[in-house]
Amino acid sequence: MKLNKYFVIDFDSTFTKVEAFDVLADISLQDHPEREERKKKIIEITNQGMDGSISFRESLEKRLNLLAPSQHHLPALITKLKGSVSESFKRNKEFFQQYSDNIYIISNGFREFIEPIVTEFGIKAENILANEFRFDTEGKVVGFDTENPLSANGGKVEQLKKLNLPGDIYVIGDGYTDYEIKHAGLANKFFAFTENVERENVKSKADHITPSLDEFLYLNKLNTAISYPKNRINVLLLENVHPVAVELLRAEGFNVETYHAAMTEEELIQKIKNVSVLGIRSKTQVTAKVLEHANRLMVIGAFCIGTNQIDLKEATKKGIAVFNAPFSNTRSVVELAVAEMIILMRNIVDKSNKMHKGVWDKSAKGSFEVRGKKLGLIGYGNIGTQLSVIAESLGMKVLYYDTEEKLSLGNAVKCKTMTEVLEQADVISLHVDGRKANANLIGPKEFSLMKKGVIFINLSRGHVVDIQALRENILSGKVAGCAIDVFPYEPVSNDEEFMSELRGLPNTILSPHIGGSTLEAQENIGNFVPGKMMDYINTGSTSNSVNFPNLTLPILKDAHRLIHIHNNVPGILAKINQLLADHGINIVGQYLKTNESVGYVITDINKQYDKDVIAKLRAIENTIKFRVLY
Ligand SMILES: NC(=O)c1ccc[n+]([C@@H]2O[C@H](COP(=O)([O-])OP(=O)(O)OC[C@H]3O[C@@H](n4cnc5c(N)ncnc54)[C@H](O)[C@@H]3O)[C@@H](O)[C@H]2O)c1
Repeated sequence: MKLNKYFVIDFDSTFTKVEAFDVLADISLQDHPEREERKKKIIEITNQGMDGSISFRESLEKRLNLLAPSQHHLPALITKLKGSVSESFKRNKEFFQQYSDNIYIISNGFREFIEPIVTEFGIKAENILANEFRFDTEGKVVGFDTENPLSANGGKVEQLKKLNLPGDIYVIGDGYTDYEIKHAGLANKFFAFTENVERENVKSKADHITPSLDEFLYLNKLNTAISYPKNRINVLLLENVHPVAVELLRAEGFNVETYHAAMTEEELIQKIKNVSVLGIRSKTQVTAKVLEHANRLMVIGAFCIGTNQIDLKEATKKGIAVFNAPFSNTRSVVELAVAEMIILMRNIVDKSNKMHKGVWDKSAKGSFEVRGKKLGLIGYGNIGTQLSVIAESLGMKVLYYDTEEKLSLGNAVKCKTMTEVLEQADVISLHVDGRKANANLIGPKEFSLMKKGVIFINLSRGHVVDIQALRENILSGKVAGCAIDVFPYEPVSNDEEFMSELRGLPNTILSPHIGGSTLEAQENIGNFVPGKMMDYINTGSTSNSVNFPNLTLPILKDAHRLIHIHNNVPGILAKINQLLADHGINIVGQYLKTNESVGYVITDINKQYDKDVIAKLRAIENTIKFRVLY
């Protein structure tokens, strides 16, 4: 295709995710005794080159001296770089093939490793402008072609001047030298590429910030591989969500912005306007006021278990689906409960405390095995059931009480009332949810029903237990040991002192709400929530959504998918179908589910639709949100 535009693309940290010299250092200095010092020095010199305290050529000479590369290092370097091509470049290989006459790679890197990478994408060798090594007879790099303008400051500008390209020039890169081309008046536009690195001084100079090549192609109306403009979807991830989530969402082609902390209501209101996908943990409050400004928001991911921080009612009203990670840390809580049960049964806490004071108290008094003991579970949900299975494998007998009808796993015995559990169990572990009605679920009366010497564990929610009553029952010896991880009031930060009537009590394990806090759980959450959000965006699937009717949908094949969210009033489905029939559109699949406030209809059609029908579908009364998947 003939095009009157030229695309000038940078190599390091743009075409590839990495800086080639960093990779080269790992290879050429692999067994070098000064490896670490040299790598540090190389970084220093690079920075000096960038801030102008030494010339680019001097920095190049010095770095090559330290790297001491040879021809035989190149194959390994090339293999590594081939594996490090930026995700959005890999996705859009077609673009490079289609516009190969118009694409130039201009880099201060070296042709010897750039050419093998970029020509695989269809870029022409003659369109690569880069430095070239000089080797000695043994293949050692002894320098570079100093005649080449790219080995000196302002090299990219010089090279481009020489090319004298007859059309508009668009530059895309991550560095200041890429911006300089525009600054010198040689390029029409500069696109700061932020998929791999973000530099504030470069971003501030850009005509457009392009978090991926998809965005660049979209802006220039050149997108070929992806018809659905995912790059238009802005994702905002707050509170340092796990890097695996950032990676997954970027790999999907979304524009991802991250922020290390929670945002205040005011900050979030400012930010939310352009956001389609919001990811938070437990601290960010997504209030009705925030949602009022969230006009593009499609989905919220809570990278945690609880969703109290989100105004779910308002989100539902606005057609925003909410997902969380309901069982990503289940196993972590269960393991802690098992450990605490055993530790408490053996009276280890007191024994350990005494040892620290120099007291050697060797006796079996008050120490028991858990095998054969009765474990009473209050709440038989995700955590309760998992603990039930593991406790049985330790030889315990499990009794449980749940307000809902639950399937008993293994040999666990279901009890009709909580009293039945309280009266029989040797160990009582609470795993109920945090609903308001569960406040003081365990108080003086419930403690009075328990067996003397019971072990009591609460890793669920703080308000579920009357702490004063627990204290009295520990001091009286009715409760022989307890482990408490959650409290009616918990310090808001690590700087605040933890105040509780439980401090200093015998055989009492206190932990700062870390039942689910393991690195594995964090990573599970980081994987789980993006999966749900991407499924929702890509297929409309709402399985596991906290506030939407749950629909699991097949992958779309040779059809268009119309996604319609509406207030749950009668007759909407009929209206949709009538409209489609009036336009002669055949339905190949349809799915409907409602909850008390919204209805969710998915309609797959196999015919090209026109704008008119979309406008009419959108205009159906009580429609909250409507979108089309291709
Ligand atoms: N300590 C931590 O770090 C940590 C980590 C994860 C979860 N949790 C908490 O653990 C608790 C359980 O989590 P889950 O994932 O198993 O939740 P879940 O929703 O799967 O299970 C809760 C179960 O409790 C039952 N229930 C509610 N009220 C009850 C009552 N009064 N009597 C009997 N049963 C009742 C429900 O029917 C449900 O089956 C929650 O409160 C959760 O917030 C704490």
